[in-house]
Amino acid sequence: MDQQLEELRASALAELEQAADELEIESVRVKYLGRSGSISAVSESMKGLSKEEKPRIGKLLNEARTAVAEAVASRKAGLEAKRDAASLAGIDVTLPGRPIPAGTIHPITQLQDRAIQIFRRMGFALADGPDIETEWHCFDALNTPADHPARNEQDTFYLPDGCLLRTHTSTVQIRAMESMPPPVRIIAPGAAYRRDEVDATHLAQFNQMEGLYVDERVTVADLKGAVEFFFRELFGPDARCRFRPHFFPFTEPSFEMDIRATALGAGGKWLELGGCGMVDPAVFQAVSRSRGDDAYDPEKVSGFAFGFGLDRLAMILSGVPDIRLFGENDIRFLRQYR
Ligand code: PHE
Repeated sequence: MDQQLEELRASALAELEQAADELEIESVRVKYLGRSGSISAVSESMKGLSKEEKPRIGKLLNEARTAVAEAVASRKAGLEAKRDAASLAGIDVTLPGRPIPAGTIHPITQLQDRAIQIFRRMGFALADGPDIETEWHCFDALNTPADHPARNEQDTFYLPDGCLLRTHTSTVQIRAMESMPPPVRIIAPGAAYRRDEVDATHLAQFNQMEGLYVDERVTVADLKGAVEFFFRELFGPDARCRFRPHFFPFTEPSFEMDIRATALGAGGKWLELGGCGMVDPAVFQAVSRSRGDDAYDPEKVSGFAFGFGLDRLAMILSGVPDIRLFGENDIRFLRQYR
Protein backbone atom coordinates (compact mmCIF):
# COMPACT_ATOMS: atom_id res chain seq x y z
CA MET A 1 0.00 0.00 0.00
CA ASP A 2 2.92 2.33 0.73
CA GLN A 3 4.15 1.78 -2.73
CA GLN A 4 0.72 2.28 -4.27
CA LEU A 5 0.28 5.63 -2.48
CA GLU A 6 3.74 6.75 -3.48
CA GLU A 7 2.97 6.00 -7.12
CA LEU A 8 -0.39 7.70 -7.07
CA ARG A 9 1.11 10.82 -5.59
CA ALA A 10 3.94 10.88 -8.12
CA SER A 11 1.67 10.41 -11.11
CA ALA A 12 -0.83 13.01 -9.84
CA LEU A 13 1.94 15.59 -9.49
CA ALA A 14 3.32 14.71 -12.90
CA GLU A 15 -0.10 15.03 -14.54
CA LEU A 16 -0.69 18.36 -12.83
CA GLU A 17 2.63 19.55 -14.18
CA GLN A 18 1.40 18.69 -17.69
CA ALA A 19 -2.08 20.17 -17.33
CA ALA A 20 -2.47 23.06 -19.75
CA ASP A 21 -5.45 24.92 -18.32
CA GLU A 22 -7.87 25.09 -15.40
CA LEU A 23 -10.18 22.44 -16.89
CA GLU A 24 -7.37 19.91 -17.10
CA ILE A 25 -6.20 20.74 -13.58
CA GLU A 26 -9.71 20.19 -12.34
CA SER A 27 -10.00 16.80 -14.03
CA VAL A 28 -6.72 15.67 -12.47
CA ARG A 29 -8.05 16.76 -9.09
CA VAL A 30 -11.24 14.76 -9.61
CA LYS A 31 -9.31 11.75 -10.84
CA TYR A 32 -7.21 11.55 -7.63
CA LEU A 33 -9.08 13.40 -4.90
CA GLY A 34 -12.69 13.17 -6.07
CA ARG A 35 -15.20 11.04 -4.18
CA SER A 36 -14.37 8.03 -6.37
CA GLY A 37 -10.81 9.17 -7.16
CA SER A 38 -7.89 6.76 -6.79
CA ILE A 39 -6.47 8.28 -3.59
CA SER A 40 -9.93 8.16 -2.06
CA ALA A 41 -10.13 4.49 -3.13
CA VAL A 42 -6.99 3.71 -1.09
CA SER A 43 -8.64 5.18 1.95
CA GLU A 44 -11.60 2.85 1.35
CA SER A 45 -9.34 -0.20 1.29
CA MET A 46 -7.75 0.82 4.62
CA LYS A 47 -10.65 -0.86 6.36
CA GLY A 48 -8.91 -4.25 5.96
CA LEU A 49 -5.66 -3.16 7.65
CA SER A 50 -4.45 -4.25 11.04
CA LYS A 51 -4.61 -1.96 14.05
CA GLU A 52 -0.85 -1.34 13.87
CA GLU A 53 -0.82 -0.52 10.19
CA LYS A 54 -3.81 1.77 10.13
CA PRO A 55 -2.25 4.91 11.71
CA ARG A 56 0.88 4.69 9.63
CA ILE A 57 -0.90 4.27 6.32
CA GLY A 58 -3.45 6.87 7.36
CA LYS A 59 -0.69 9.36 7.85
CA LEU A 60 0.84 8.58 4.46
CA LEU A 61 -2.58 8.89 2.91
CA ASN A 62 -3.09 12.33 4.38
CA GLU A 63 0.31 13.47 3.22
CA ALA A 64 -0.41 12.30 -0.31
CA ARG A 65 -3.79 14.01 -0.30
CA THR A 66 -2.36 17.28 1.02
CA ALA A 67 0.49 17.28 -1.44
CA VAL A 68 -1.84 16.80 -4.40
CA ALA A 69 -4.32 19.41 -3.12
CA GLU A 70 -1.53 21.94 -2.64
CA ALA A 71 -0.19 21.28 -6.11
CA VAL A 72 -3.69 21.83 -7.55
CA ALA A 73 -4.02 25.15 -5.71
CA SER A 74 -0.62 26.42 -6.70
CA ARG A 75 -1.09 25.50 -10.38
CA LYS A 76 -4.42 27.31 -10.42
CA ALA A 77 -2.92 30.38 -8.75
CA GLY A 78 -0.07 30.30 -11.26
CA LEU A 79 -2.48 30.32 -14.18
CA GLU A 80 -4.48 33.15 -12.68
CA ALA A 81 -1.40 35.28 -12.15
CA LYS A 82 -0.39 34.69 -15.76
CA ARG A 83 -3.81 35.76 -16.96
CA ASP A 84 -3.73 38.94 -14.86
CA ALA A 85 -0.27 39.80 -16.09
CA ALA A 86 -1.40 39.34 -19.69
CA SER A 87 -4.39 41.61 -19.28
CA LEU A 88 -2.26 44.31 -17.62
CA ALA A 89 0.51 44.06 -20.21
CA GLY A 90 -0.77 47.03 -22.24
CA ILE A 91 -1.39 49.24 -19.21
CA ASP A 92 1.18 51.52 -17.64
CA VAL A 93 0.00 51.62 -14.05
CA THR A 94 2.47 54.37 -13.22
CA LEU A 95 0.63 56.89 -15.44
CA PRO A 96 -1.40 59.52 -13.54
CA GLY A 97 -5.18 58.93 -13.51
CA ARG A 98 -7.56 60.86 -15.72
CA PRO A 99 -8.82 63.90 -13.82
CA ILE A 100 -12.58 63.95 -13.18
CA PRO A 101 -13.67 67.49 -13.97
CA ALA A 102 -15.16 69.30 -11.00
CA GLY A 103 -18.54 70.84 -11.77
CA THR A 104 -19.54 74.40 -10.95
CA ILE A 105 -22.59 75.67 -9.13
CA HIS A 106 -25.24 77.12 -11.43
CA PRO A 107 -25.37 80.94 -11.13
CA ILE A 108 -29.03 80.82 -10.05
CA THR A 109 -28.23 78.26 -7.37
CA GLN A 110 -25.35 80.45 -6.21
CA LEU A 111 -27.70 83.40 -5.79
CA GLN A 112 -30.30 81.18 -4.12
CA ASP A 113 -27.69 79.91 -1.65
CA ARG A 114 -26.58 83.42 -0.75
CA ALA A 115 -30.18 84.52 -0.26
CA ILE A 116 -30.92 81.51 1.95
CA GLN A 117 -27.89 82.28 4.12
CA ILE A 118 -29.07 85.84 4.72
CA PHE A 119 -32.64 84.85 5.60
CA ARG A 120 -31.31 82.10 7.86
CA ARG A 121 -29.62 84.76 9.93
CA MET A 122 -33.01 86.39 10.43
CA GLY A 123 -34.45 83.08 11.61
CA PHE A 124 -36.18 81.99 8.40
CA ALA A 125 -36.24 78.26 7.77
CA LEU A 126 -36.27 76.58 4.39
CA ALA A 127 -39.61 75.21 3.18
CA ASP A 128 -40.83 73.76 -0.07
CA GLY A 129 -43.81 72.35 -1.91
CA PRO A 130 -44.52 70.48 -5.13
CA ASP A 131 -44.21 72.03 -8.59
CA ILE A 132 -47.39 70.20 -9.63
CA GLU A 133 -50.10 71.77 -7.53
CA THR A 134 -53.81 71.74 -6.91
CA GLU A 135 -55.88 74.73 -8.00
CA TRP A 136 -56.77 75.14 -4.36
CA HIS A 137 -53.17 75.69 -3.17
CA CYS A 138 -52.30 77.87 -6.14
CA PHE A 139 -55.42 80.04 -6.32
CA ASP A 140 -58.43 79.38 -4.08
CA ALA A 141 -56.59 79.32 -0.76
CA LEU A 142 -54.73 82.43 -1.92
CA ASN A 143 -58.03 84.28 -2.27
CA THR A 144 -57.83 84.28 -6.06
CA PRO A 145 -61.37 83.99 -7.46
CA ALA A 146 -62.32 81.62 -10.27
CA ASP A 147 -62.59 84.45 -12.81
CA HIS A 148 -59.17 85.94 -12.04
CA PRO A 149 -57.08 86.33 -15.22
CA ALA A 150 -54.13 84.39 -13.72
CA ARG A 151 -56.32 81.29 -13.69
CA ASN A 152 -56.86 81.56 -17.42
CA GLU A 153 -55.65 78.68 -19.57
CA GLN A 154 -53.72 81.22 -21.58
CA ASP A 155 -51.54 81.93 -18.57
CA THR A 156 -51.39 78.66 -16.65
CA PHE A 157 -50.30 75.13 -17.59
CA TYR A 158 -53.16 72.84 -16.60
CA LEU A 159 -52.70 69.08 -16.47
CA PRO A 160 -55.37 66.64 -17.66
CA ASP A 161 -56.19 65.65 -14.07
CA GLY A 162 -57.10 69.22 -13.09
CA CYS A 163 -53.80 69.93 -11.35
CA LEU A 164 -51.47 72.61 -12.67
CA LEU A 165 -47.86 73.76 -12.68
CA ARG A 166 -47.67 76.34 -9.92
CA THR A 167 -47.62 79.86 -11.30
CA HIS A 168 -45.84 81.23 -8.23
CA THR A 169 -44.16 79.93 -5.10
CA SER A 170 -46.92 81.46 -2.95
CA THR A 171 -48.38 77.92 -2.83
CA VAL A 172 -45.74 77.18 -0.21
CA GLN A 173 -47.29 79.81 2.09
CA ILE A 174 -50.40 77.66 2.23
CA ARG A 175 -48.51 74.38 2.56
CA ALA A 176 -46.37 75.76 5.39
CA MET A 177 -49.36 77.06 7.35
CA GLU A 178 -51.26 73.81 6.80
CA SER A 179 -48.39 71.83 8.24
CA MET A 180 -47.40 73.93 11.27
CA PRO A 181 -48.92 76.34 13.74
CA PRO A 182 -47.64 79.92 14.09
CA PRO A 183 -45.11 81.39 14.52
CA VAL A 184 -44.02 80.59 10.97
CA ARG A 185 -40.95 82.10 9.42
CA ILE A 186 -40.03 80.42 6.14
CA ILE A 187 -38.45 81.06 2.79
CA ALA A 188 -39.13 78.88 -0.21
CA PRO A 189 -36.98 79.18 -3.32
CA GLY A 190 -38.24 77.22 -6.31
CA ALA A 191 -39.50 77.02 -9.85
CA ALA A 192 -42.71 78.56 -11.11
CA TYR A 193 -44.37 78.19 -14.51
CA ARG A 194 -46.34 80.48 -16.80
CA ARG A 195 -47.32 80.22 -20.43
CA ASP A 196 -45.12 83.12 -21.41
CA GLU A 197 -43.75 83.76 -24.88
CA VAL A 198 -40.10 82.68 -24.59
CA ASP A 199 -37.58 85.42 -25.36
CA ALA A 200 -34.35 86.88 -23.97
CA THR A 201 -36.04 87.86 -20.69
CA HIS A 202 -38.85 85.26 -20.37
CA LEU A 203 -38.97 81.53 -19.92
CA ALA A 204 -42.01 79.35 -19.27
CA GLN A 205 -40.15 78.10 -16.20
CA PHE A 206 -38.51 80.62 -13.92
CA ASN A 207 -37.31 80.90 -10.34
CA GLN A 208 -38.82 82.69 -7.39
CA MET A 209 -38.06 83.11 -3.74
CA GLU A 210 -41.06 83.20 -1.43
CA GLY A 211 -41.07 84.39 2.15
CA LEU A 212 -43.70 84.20 4.89
CA TYR A 213 -43.70 85.41 8.45
CA VAL A 214 -46.75 84.88 10.66
CA ASP A 215 -46.88 85.66 14.35
CA GLU A 216 -48.74 87.95 16.72
CA ARG A 217 -48.51 91.66 15.88
CA VAL A 218 -46.43 91.43 12.70
CA THR A 219 -46.56 94.76 10.86
CA VAL A 220 -45.57 96.41 7.59
CA ALA A 221 -42.53 97.78 9.44
CA ASP A 222 -41.35 94.19 9.98
CA LEU A 223 -41.84 93.49 6.29
CA LYS A 224 -39.86 96.53 5.21
CA GLY A 225 -37.14 95.86 7.77
CA ALA A 226 -36.65 92.25 6.68
CA VAL A 227 -36.67 93.02 2.96
CA GLU A 228 -34.34 96.03 3.27
CA PHE A 229 -31.90 94.13 5.46
CA PHE A 230 -31.89 91.30 2.95
CA PHE A 231 -31.10 93.49 -0.06
CA ARG A 232 -28.44 95.44 1.78
CA GLU A 233 -26.71 92.21 2.77
CA LEU A 234 -26.96 90.95 -0.79
CA PHE A 235 -25.98 94.07 -2.74
CA GLY A 236 -24.11 96.22 -0.24
CA PRO A 237 -25.00 99.12 2.08
CA ASP A 238 -26.03 101.45 -0.75
CA ALA A 239 -28.93 99.18 -1.79
CA ARG A 240 -32.30 100.97 -1.63
CA CYS A 241 -35.79 99.49 -1.69
CA ARG A 242 -38.98 101.14 -2.79
CA PHE A 243 -42.49 99.92 -2.01
CA ARG A 244 -45.22 100.92 -4.45
CA PRO A 245 -48.88 100.26 -3.62
CA HIS A 246 -50.20 97.42 -5.74
CA PHE A 247 -52.80 94.66 -5.67
CA PHE A 248 -52.44 90.97 -4.96
CA PRO A 249 -55.46 88.87 -3.97
CA PHE A 250 -53.57 87.27 -1.08
CA THR A 251 -52.08 90.35 0.57
CA GLU A 252 -53.64 93.55 1.89
CA PRO A 253 -52.09 96.06 1.73
CA SER A 254 -49.92 94.94 -1.19
CA PHE A 255 -46.78 96.46 -2.65
CA GLU A 256 -44.46 96.01 -5.55
CA MET A 257 -40.84 96.19 -4.50
CA ASP A 258 -38.19 97.91 -6.57
CA ILE A 259 -34.52 98.02 -5.74
CA ARG A 260 -31.55 100.06 -6.74
CA ALA A 261 -27.87 99.43 -5.96
CA THR A 262 -24.47 100.14 -7.46
CA ALA A 263 -23.92 96.39 -7.67
CA LEU A 264 -26.91 96.20 -9.99
CA GLY A 265 -25.70 98.92 -12.35
CA ALA A 266 -28.33 100.26 -14.78
CA GLY A 267 -27.32 103.85 -13.96
CA GLY A 268 -29.21 103.93 -10.68
CA LYS A 269 -32.52 102.95 -12.26
CA TRP A 270 -35.11 101.16 -10.10
CA LEU A 271 -35.44 97.48 -10.83
CA GLU A 272 -38.85 95.92 -10.36
CA LEU A 273 -38.31 92.75 -8.44
CA GLY A 274 -41.47 91.27 -7.01
CA GLY A 275 -44.43 91.64 -4.75
CA CYS A 276 -45.13 91.68 -1.05
CA GLY A 277 -47.70 92.66 1.50
CA MET A 278 -49.56 91.73 4.67
CA VAL A 279 -51.25 88.31 4.53
CA ASP A 280 -54.93 88.82 3.66
CA PRO A 281 -57.34 87.62 6.39
CA ALA A 282 -59.11 85.57 3.70
CA VAL A 283 -55.93 83.48 3.35
CA PHE A 284 -55.85 82.81 7.10
CA GLN A 285 -59.52 81.80 6.90
CA ALA A 286 -58.83 79.34 4.05
CA VAL A 287 -55.94 77.83 6.02
CA SER A 288 -58.10 77.60 9.14
CA ARG A 289 -60.82 75.72 7.21
CA SER A 290 -58.20 73.34 5.84
CA ARG A 291 -56.58 72.79 9.25
CA GLY A 292 -59.86 72.55 11.08
CA ASP A 293 -58.59 74.68 13.97
CA ASP A 294 -58.23 78.36 14.83
CA ALA A 295 -54.42 78.50 15.06
CA TYR A 296 -54.50 81.06 12.24
CA ASP A 297 -57.44 83.08 13.52
CA PRO A 298 -57.00 86.41 11.67
CA GLU A 299 -58.05 88.20 14.86
CA LYS A 300 -55.04 86.72 16.66
CA VAL A 301 -52.24 86.52 14.09
CA SER A 302 -50.90 88.69 11.31
CA GLY A 303 -48.07 88.23 8.87
CA PHE A 304 -46.21 89.41 5.86
CA ALA A 305 -45.33 87.62 2.62
CA PHE A 306 -43.09 88.45 -0.27
CA GLY A 307 -42.06 86.82 -3.52
CA PHE A 308 -39.43 87.93 -5.98
CA GLY A 309 -37.84 86.58 -9.12
CA LEU A 310 -34.31 85.23 -8.99
CA ASP A 311 -33.59 84.97 -12.70
CA ARG A 312 -33.38 88.67 -13.46
CA LEU A 313 -31.13 89.30 -10.45
CA ALA A 314 -28.88 86.41 -11.48
CA MET A 315 -28.73 87.79 -15.03
CA ILE A 316 -27.59 91.18 -13.80
CA LEU A 317 -25.14 89.84 -11.23
CA SER A 318 -23.61 87.35 -13.65
CA GLY A 319 -23.72 89.63 -16.70
CA VAL A 320 -25.93 87.23 -18.65
CA PRO A 321 -27.70 88.91 -21.58
CA ASP A 322 -30.20 86.13 -22.37
CA ILE A 323 -32.20 84.17 -19.79
CA ARG A 324 -32.30 81.14 -22.08
CA LEU A 325 -28.59 80.56 -21.38
CA PHE A 326 -29.52 79.51 -17.83
CA GLY A 327 -31.48 76.53 -19.06
CA GLU A 328 -29.32 75.23 -21.87
CA ASN A 329 -26.80 73.39 -19.67
CA ASP A 330 -23.98 74.29 -22.01
CA ILE A 331 -20.83 73.69 -19.97
CA ARG A 332 -18.97 76.42 -21.85
CA PHE A 333 -21.47 78.82 -20.27
CA LEU A 334 -21.72 77.16 -16.86
CA ARG A 335 -18.01 76.77 -16.21
CA GLN A 336 -17.58 80.55 -16.29
CA TYR A 337 -19.37 80.78 -12.93
CA ARG A 338 -17.32 79.41 -10.05
N1 PHE B 1 -46.83 85.56 -5.91
C1 PHE B 1 -46.64 86.90 -6.40
C2 PHE B 1 -46.15 86.83 -7.85
O1 PHE B 1 -45.72 85.79 -8.29
C3 PHE B 1 -45.66 87.68 -5.56
C4 PHE B 1 -46.10 87.88 -4.16
C5 PHE B 1 -45.72 86.99 -3.18
C6 PHE B 1 -46.87 88.96 -3.81
C7 PHE B 1 -46.11 87.17 -1.86
C8 PHE B 1 -47.26 89.17 -2.49
C9 PHE B 1 -46.89 88.28 -1.53
O2 PHE B 1 -46.19 87.82 -8.55
